[in-house]
Amino acid sequence: MPITTQKLTRFKQEGRQIVVLTAWDYLIAQTLDQAGVDVIMVGDSLAMVALGYDTTVPLTLDEIIHHAKAVRRGVKNALLVVDLPFMTYQESPEQALRSAGRIMKETGAQAVKLEGGYPAIATTVFRLVQAGIPVMGHVGLTPQSVHQFGGFRKQGNSPEAAERVLEEAIALEQAGAFSIVLEHIPEDLGLRISQKLHIPTIGIGGGSHCDGQVLVTADLLGLSEWQPSFAKVYVNLRDTIAQAVQSFSSEVREHRFPNG
Ligand code: KIV
Repeated sequence: MPITTQKLTRFKQEGRQIVVLTAWDYLIAQTLDQAGVDVIMVGDSLAMVALGYDTTVPLTLDEIIHHAKAVRRGVKNALLVVDLPFMTYQESPEQALRSAGRIMKETGAQAVKLEGGYPAIATTVFRLVQAGIPVMGHVGLTPQSVHQFGGFRKQGNSPEAAERVLEEAIALEQAGAFSIVLEHIPEDLGLRISQKLHIPTIGIGGGSHCDGQVLVTADLLGLSEWQPSFAKVYVNLRDTIAQAVQSFSSEVREHRFPNG
């Protein structure tokens, strides 16, 4: 049975951990979906892992929609969530409605994700939810603000900063978000937020007490050149692919392929 936002809330109530991974094309999406991942996210990290940008900032709405359409064709069971790129929702709730509306109509996604907290983003989340668009929030290290943070740095370190992240998460829940990503924050803050909220928290460097975990799939597979400290590499596909390519190259050059 396909995953819904309501099911994710139930998973939290039942203490069942939620598995989330990112996808950027049809084959990756199909593989993750068939492996039983609960939520497939077309994260704007695809700017870095699929398009070669240094940050997520340059990604456009057209670019993410193009990738999300391919991902949609590979997903049958997981809940599909698509990121709103930088500056496609920060201007006003109306701008966010237009951007999220395009994502929902053109890609077949079941929800959108956006970064940031209150007051402006919580107001925007409220408007999207009123329009019937399920929204996932994202607080802590919000990569679209990388230049404001001075790098991909851990957030919520001081008591005041931690309080602010907690308040943002509460404001997003009150605005109607169905789930929230907690990125690169201290473990005890992840615990506090996860205990306080009724909606599921999804950690990425958010500690072991979140209601689910997400990784950028290119990191998990060892495809990306660089991984953040909180990522775990489960297989080194970069090396595996290089070895396969070297075997093919040798066989072609030595006339052993195709007839070897
Ligand atoms: O852009 C992304 O891939 C994300 C997730 C990793 C949370 O925001």
